[in-house]
Amino acid sequence: MPGVTKPATRLRIPQLDLQAQYAALKDELQAAIARVCDSQRFILGPEGEALERELAGYCGVPHAIGCASGSDALLLSLVTLGVTHEDDVVTVPFTFFSTAGAIARLGARAVFVDIDPRTFNLDAQKLRAALQARRSEKRRGPAAVIPVHLFGQPADMDAINQIAAEFDLPVIEDAAQAIGAECAGRRVGSIGRTGCFSFYPTKNLGAFGDAGLVTTTDSALADRLRAMSRHGCTHDKYHHDHVGWNARLDELQAAVLRVKFKHLEEWNRARIACAGRYDELFLEAGLADAQKAYPDEKHPVVIPYRAPNCRHVFHQYVIRARDPAGGGAGRDALRKFLADEGVGTEVYYPLPLHLQSCFHAWQGREGDFPEAERASREVLALPLYPELTPDQQRYVTAKVAEFYLRP
Ligand SMILES: Cc1ncc(COP(=O)(O)O)c(C=O)c1O
Repeated sequence: MPGVTKPATRLRIPQLDLQAQYAALKDELQAAIARVCDSQRFILGPEGEALERELAGYCGVPHAIGCASGSDALLLSLVTLGVTHEDDVVTVPFTFFSTAGAIARLGARAVFVDIDPRTFNLDAQKLRAALQARRSEKRRGPAAVIPVHLFGQPADMDAINQIAAEFDLPVIEDAAQAIGAECAGRRVGSIGRTGCFSFYPTKNLGAFGDAGLVTTTDSALADRLRAMSRHGCTHDKYHHDHVGWNARLDELQAAVLRVKFKHLEEWNRARIACAGRYDELFLEAGLADAQKAYPDEKHPVVIPYRAPNCRHVFHQYVIRARDPAGGGAGRDALRKFLADEGVGTEVYYPLPLHLQSCFHAWQGREGDFPEAERASREVLALPLYPELTPDQQRYVTAKVAEFYLRP
């Protein structure tokens, strides 16, 4: 294959390496932690308030409410929008567990709609068809829709918002993987009724533990979200208007996040540059098609498609690894080969949510969502982080080429 030289030395490249980021910011991070320790204010203080202001500005919304995790951000959104155990909520079967887990926690039911195979995100046309079918069967409409901006790429928000408006559905953006991504010039988190962010340590903006955020443009909703994250307490301490729970963000996490937030844009740009470099290397090697056509029967690899008019912030660089010969040289064999050659990869996600045993009551069956199921068999996340070097990327792609060229 053109453009591939076999690397002489063996490297070890993890799928994610947080050490490089920590080394660069160690002094500043430790000073921020010391500041909180010195203040002895750990819950609801100036760090959290400042972080909320900074992230609201970044996302282009008037309100941001810090909370304990991305999962709590989803749960707070659902509860605050009035979803109950009697409701259905539409989302995708190809996402992290938590998206549907939050729905199930309320005793509500997730109604899945398949993904667009190019973006891995909610297929807007299938959403319309599903909602129309329910309407013509005179079934009660769902209470909300949760599109997920998977791997850092925004879902088709213009179309989804339009359909949601026609069917009177609030839109909850699951932006856990996509802070800084944009759709038609608007940052994710500012497009739906709420935006839900996770600062799990591996995210593009990661805390030193669990943390999350909900964004909204709606002041009344913001007040309710805040109250629900504090046991439903709206005004006076120990007076509860609603039954909320403890979903607060703590000051140590907020202080860490504020240090890292100053670098988020530079990191997102580095991720986008790394993704572009991987694309070039796969194309030079003749392993993938420049058009990112799907399905692509001619090449073993499909590189990530970028939706037009969007900014994909590459939380993950996810290829489809096909089995062109049909002889078992597919994703799992490639993954093992790369591991043996020192390259870490991950599979997000190996089992779609409609087939998870804990959701058996929703009666999902194999074949219900063919694109989600196919994605689960084909996706492979390659090493990607802002500090990844061109030489490391050349090694990774050369190893993929070696795998597909083996006799
Ligand atoms: C798409 C998606 N939704 C929700 C979550 C939940 O976030 P957290 O782990 O902070 O609860 C995650 C994070 O892992 C995620 O990737």
